[in-house]
Order: sequence, then C-alpha cells, then structure tokens
Amino acid sequence: MNVISFKKPTNIFLGLFSFLLAMSLSSTTLQAQEDGEKLFKSYCASCHSPGANQLVGPGLAGVYDKYEREWLYKWIKNSSALIATGDAQAISVYEQYNKVIMPAQPVTNVQIDAILDYLKVYAEAAPVVAVVVPPTVVVEDEGMSGYAIAGIVVLFLILIILLRKVQYIFTAAKAREAGEDMPEETTMTQALGLTISQNKTIFALMGIVCLALFAKGGWDSAFGVGVYQGYEPEQPIKFSHELHAGTNGIDCNYCHNSASYSKSAGIPSPNLCMNCHTYIQEGPQYGKEEIGKIYAALDFDPVTKTYGPNQKPIKWVKVHNLPDHVYFNHSQHVAIGKIACEKCHGPVETYTVGKQYAELTMGWCINCHRETKVQMADNGYYDEIHNRLPEELKKQYLEDGTITVSELGGIECAKCHY
Ligand code: HEC
Ligand code: HEC
Ligand code: HEC
Ligand code: HEC
Ligand code: HEC
Ligand code: HEC
Repeated sequence: MNVISFKKPTNIFLGLFSFLLAMSLSSTTLQAQEDGEKLFKSYCASCHSPGANQLVGPGLAGVYDKYEREWLYKWIKNSSALIATGDAQAISVYEQYNKVIMPAQPVTNVQIDAILDYLKVYAEAAPVVAVVVPPTVVVEDEGMSGYAIAGIVVLFLILIILLRKVQYIFTAAKAREAGEDMPEETTMTQALGLTISQNKTIFALMGIVCLALFAKGGWDSAFGVGVYQGYEPEQPIKFSHELHAGTNGIDCNYCHNSASYSKSAGIPSPNLCMNCHTYIQEGPQYGKEEIGKIYAALDFDPVTKTYGPNQKPIKWVKVHNLPDHVYFNHSQHVAIGKIACEKCHGPVETYTVGKQYAELTMGWCINCHRETKVQMADNGYYDEIHNRLPEELKKQYLEDGTITVSELGGIECAKCHY
C-alpha cells in the first residue's frame, strides 16, 4: 500500500477509511474465535463439557490431539455412519462409552475447526479445574449494524465537505498573498462532486464495501433476532425433567400427550401432577417445599387430601417461542413425520431446568426439510394420497423412499408463514 501523505486533504479520508476498515476486519477475526465457543454451546454443550467432566458424553479436553482431524470431522458429522463403516477407532469409542450413540451434528469442517480451537483455548485457560459451563442465553451478537455503517458514511461525507472548505480557505489566503484572483468558492455539492470525481476508484471501492457491510448487517439483524438457543428461564416450581423423564422413566407422552395429535405439545395441568403427587409429598432435593407449590396452586391439603376453592394456575415460563408469523405443528412432525422429541429438543431426560435446545431459526427448519426423507411406508397419512399417484411415482415414493420433505413442498414459504 502507498504511504499516505496528508498533503491532499482527501488522503486524510483514505487514512481514516482504511483505519475503520481495518478495525471492522479485526473485529471479524475476533468474532471468528468467539464463534467456536458459541458453536460449542449450541451443538455440543448439552452432552459434553469442554473440560474433563463426563456429562452425557465424555469431556472433550484434549480430543484435538487424541484423534486425526479427518477422523474427527467424520465422527462429529455422523458417528453412526462412521461406526457402520467398521472403523475400528469409532467402534472402540462407541463401546468405551456404554454404546450411547452420539447423534450426527449439523456442522461444517470449518465450524468443527472453530470448536476444536475453542476447546484448546479453554484447556489452556483452565488447565486443572474442569468447570462445566452451563449453556446460557445466546443472544446473537449483531456485530456492526447497518445503522452504524450508514452513520459512518454520512459522517464521511460531512467531513469531506468540511475539508474542502478548509482547503478553499487556504488557497484563497495564498491567492490573496500572491495578489492573484480569488479562486471560485465551491458549493457543498460541488465540493462533494469534485472529491468524488478526483478519487473515483476509492469511492467505488468504499461504496462496494459499505454495501456489503450494509447487506450483512441487515441480513444478520433480520435473521439473528429472536435466537434464544440454550434459553433456560427460572420456573415457578423447580420441576426437573431429569428426575421425572430420566430417573423415574416417565414417558414424554404421559405429560405432553397432545404432541401426537395436535399442533401444540402443551404443558401439563397441575391436576395431572396430582396423579402421583397426591401421594409423593416429598422430593429428594427440596423436600416438601417445591411439591408444596403444586398444593398451593390447587389449594390442596396434603393431610386431609381435599381441595379448597382458591385455585390458581401455575405460571410456567414458556421456553420455546416461535414468532407469531410461523406455523409449526407437532403432530405433523411427531405422528406423521415420526421424528423423536430428542431430535428437536435434545436429551430432555438430562435437563434439570427446561431449556431451548435447537436454534429455532428458519435455517434450522429448512435444513432438516432438505435432509430428511419422508417416511411414507406404513404411514396412514399417505395411503390415500398414494392411491391417486401414477405407478412410477408410487414406486419412487414407496420403494426407494427418496423423497425429502423439501421435494414435497416443505420449503415453500406459505407452508410455514401465515
Ligand atoms: C446428544 C448428545 C451429544 C451431542 C449433542 C454431542 N455429542 Fe459428542 N459424544 C456423545 C457421546 C454419548 C459420546 C461417546 C461416544 C459414543 O458413545 O458413541 C460422544 C463422543 C464424542 C467424541 C469422542 C470423545 C472421546 O474422547 O473419544 C468427540 C470428539 C465428540 N463427541 C465431539 C462432539 C462435538 C464436537 C459435538 C458438537 C458439535 C458433540 N460431540 C455433540 C454425545 C453427544
Ligand atoms: C411429569 C411430567 C413431564 C414429563 C414426563 C415430561 N415433561 Fe416436559 N415439561 C413438563 C413441565 C411441567 C414443563 C414446564 C416446565 C419446564 O419448562 O421445565 C415441561 C416443559 C417441557 C419443554 C419446554 C416447553 C416450553 O416451555 O417451551 C419441552 C421441550 C419438554 N417439556 C419436552 C419433554 C420431553 C421431550 C419429554 C420426554 C423425554 C418430557 N418433556 C417429559 C412436564 C413433563
Ligand atoms: C407419574 C408420576 C409423576 C407425575 C405425573 C409427576 N411427578 Fe413429580 N415426582 C415424581 C416422582 C417419582 C418424584 C421423586 C420422588 C422421590 O424421588 O422421592 C417426583 C418429584 C417431584 C418434585 C420434587 C423435586 C425434589 O427434588 O425435591 C417436584 C417439585 C415435582 N415432582 C413436581 C412435579 C410437577 C410440577 C408435576 C406436574 C407437572 C409432577 N411432578 C408430576 C412423580 C411424578
Ligand atoms: C421437528 C421438531 C420438533 C419435534 C420432533 C418435537 N418438537 Fe416440541 N417444539 C418444537 C418447536 C419448534 C416448538 C416451539 C413451538 C412454538 O413456539 O409454537 C416446540 C415446543 C414444545 C413444547 C412447548 C409447548 C408448545 O406446545 O409450544 C413442548 C412441551 C414440546 N415442544 C414437547 C415436545 C415433545 C414431548 C415432543 C415429542 C413427542 C416434541 N416436542 C417433538 C419442535 C419439535
Ligand atoms: C428434525 C427435522 C425437522 C425439523 C427441525 C423441522 N421439520 Fe418440519 N417437517 C419434518 C418432516 C420429516 C416433515 C414431513 C412430515 C410429513 O410426512 O408430512 C415436516 C413437515 C413440515 C410441514 C408440512 C409440510 C408440507 O409439505 O405439508 C411444515 C409446515 C413444517 N414441517 C414446519 C416446520 C417448521 C416451522 C419448523 C421449524 C420451526 C420445522 N418444520 C422443523 C422435519 C422437520
Ligand atoms: C420450514 C419452515 C419455513 C419455511 C419454508 C420458510 N420459513 Fe421463513 N421463517 C421460519 C421460521 C421458524 C422463522 C423465525 C426465525 C427466527 O425467529 O429466528 C422465519 C422467519 C422469517 C423471516 C424473518 C422475520 C423475522 O421475524 O425476523 C422472513 C423474512 C422469512 N422467514 C421469510 C421467508 C420466505 C420469503 C420464505 C420462502 C422462501 C420462508 N420464509 C420460508 C420458517 C420458515
């Protein structure tokens, strides 16, 4: 790059502009490092600690040295596929950890590199104590917003005009000293026009960079808002899925049975809790305190086992919140699509507090619709439709099973947006 001299006032802009550009670029690299942590928390932290502790899966400290990078890519992206190829190392890892399948992770090699880099940084920062980092609310960092960029552009333009004026005053003063004719004063727009026409390439470049940043800022703020992956708000009663669905093995459908026949999975009413808690009056961790809150809501007397008139609802805090303009239907996915709750909600039987496992972004829905094949065989929902299909399509749909949700129209805007 040329050494910038400040003789020409416009060179000052160049200097300032390169400085700002450099700033925004360096903040992008910083962001790349943070991404590793974010990705880890989004995809891996529900099962792995970044240190040595075992959660659902083993602690990941040191895996970057323990295995070949290529092997890690394959393992993380689809461990069961790797095991199926007969890969000895994969089989041994699988057997070592009680044959629990690690689900395929929707991450790219670049994202895996970022995660492994984060694990390294984490291990160096905390070499001895392995702390389990609980996933907290991931509020998307929007970076430099479109508005900030627009502001900078406007400031630049004002600066250009001002510096033109200063330049004019100097030339005018010189002209007067030399006894020459006064130069013509330029108006604001002329000043701007002159600067631009004298530095066409620079301004064209500036324009392109600003547009790109603008587009990125706009895109990020449109699609980044409302991403609350890992969100786990405090609840009015310390209800634990780990204790109920995990330790005591209560089926999801016992409490969320509407998931299989209606749009919403629903939160169970306190009356359902009473099927068991009429008798189970003390818990292992909180004694009578938390279960007592169910009784308070129902105005229930645990001694006489009678209900009073002053009943009030339990105000559970909703964990998952899709925007109003999105249509999502549980039964379509659970009953017809035959997708397990865990696929979208993670290992719920290990949660002590309800939390949001998936991103719940449009990309998340659409990626799955692109990848997932529709389960048509033995699916009552499709029988009637199939009877109307031409023979060759029937073969493709039923025997080959190669139709993805997106091929059936699952990525059409109107399917998900009212
Ligand atoms: C739903 C739980 C779950 C999630 C999410 C998960 N894993 Fe795993 N992972 C496991 C289990 C369980 C094992 C143990 C191996 C087995 O039983 O197949 C494992 C094993 C591993 C291993 C081998 C560790 C060793 O010491 O041999 C690596 C590496 C790994 N996971 C990386 C990741 C990364 C990176 C992510 C996030 C992108 C991730 N996992 C997400 C459950 C999970
Ligand atoms: C004993 C009843 C019970 C069982 C069994 C149960 N849940 Fe729940 N579930 C609840 C209650 C109560 C809440 C609300 C409190 C909370 O969010 O933790 C809840 C909340 C949830 C939420 C978050 C809802 C929101 O606010 O967005 C999900 C997801 C969920 N359960 C999935 C499951 C899955 C999957 C299973 C099976 C592995 C399961 N539940 C088993 C009672 C139950
Ligand atoms: C199918 C039976 C069943 C249902 C339904 C049920 N629970 Fe439980 N609950 C249990 C069992 C079993 C325990 C553990 C008792 C023990 O280990 O001593 C428990 C314990 C608890 C505890 C005590 C936690 C502690 O560590 O002190 C709370 C709080 C609780 N349940 C809340 C609820 C709520 C709220 C509902 C309704 C949404 C509910 N339960 C529905 C079976 C049930
Ligand atoms: C294809 C992904 C997917 C599957 C499979 C799935 N859910 Fe959900 N679940 C969601 C989404 C998305 C939301 C948020 C819905 C909203 O805000 O309107 C949600 C919300 C919930 C809620 C909060 C209450 C509600 O209805 O909004 C509960 C409870 C729940 N799911 C339980 C379950 C259970 C139990 C299963 C398995 C029987 C299950 N889910 C299967 C994606 C899924
Ligand atoms: C884990 C994979 C998965 C995820 C995640 C998922 N879906 Fe689906 N979705 C399916 C499958 C499989 C079907 C097809 C079910 C069937 O056979 O009708 C489907 C079908 C649908 C349909 C009906 C499409 C049609 O052509 O009739 C809608 C609408 C839909 N999904 C909305 C959503 C929304 C909104 C989200 C995100 C909040 C979402 N889905 C996330 C797997 C998924
Ligand atoms: C499979 C379901 C699905 C399909 C198909 C889909 N969307 Fe979305 N869309 C979503 C979900 C879920 C969100 C909410 C994402 C969030 O809150 O982060 C969303 C959000 C959006 C938003 C952002 C609004 C906001 O609140 O920030 C726009 C714009 C949008 N969709 C447009 C489209 C267009 C255009 C199409 C067709 C090309 C389309 N969508 C198809 C599920 C879908």
